[in-house]
Amino acid sequence: MERTFGIIKPDAVAAGDTGKILDIIEQNGFKVAGMRKIHMSKKTAQQFYSVHASRPFYDALTTFMSSAPCVVLVLEKDGAILGWRELMGATNPDMATEGTLRKLFGKSIDHNAVHGSDAKETAAEEIAFFFAGMNLV
Ligand code: CMP
Repeated sequence: MERTFGIIKPDAVAAGDTGKILDIIEQNGFKVAGMRKIHMSKKTAQQFYSVHASRPFYDALTTFMSSAPCVVLVLEKDGAILGWRELMGATNPDMATEGTLRKLFGKSIDHNAVHGSDAKETAAEEIAFFFAGMNLV
């Protein structure tokens, strides 16, 4: 079983879409191995997204991610990393395939409802960032 990391972002949580997104996640065969509702500080958002520190959207991204609560997830499935990226769809909801989470719930590239790890190494790092020392079941 492979594990990946996901976030239901502040836009989707504020819109009341958390339950709908979790239902789709489970319907697609993922097991939720870890889940926390958190409100990130700006500093935590900056650390989490530090790979994007030099990008023009970094400040807006970290302001948005620390603006309201989100739900951080550990998702488990055979091929979870690729499967979660496919279920999320393209970063920009306008480019996302019909039926994907970003198409269904995202409003723009900045407010795109969900985040997911892009590779094995980042999945391990991102899980550790929010779930270190916690019991994943
Ligand atoms: P996410 O998967 O959380 O990773 C970084 C986020 O930055 C991304 O989703 C988008 O919401 C946001 N973002 C804003 N502009 C861009 C861009 N031009 N390219 C990639 N990500 C962007």
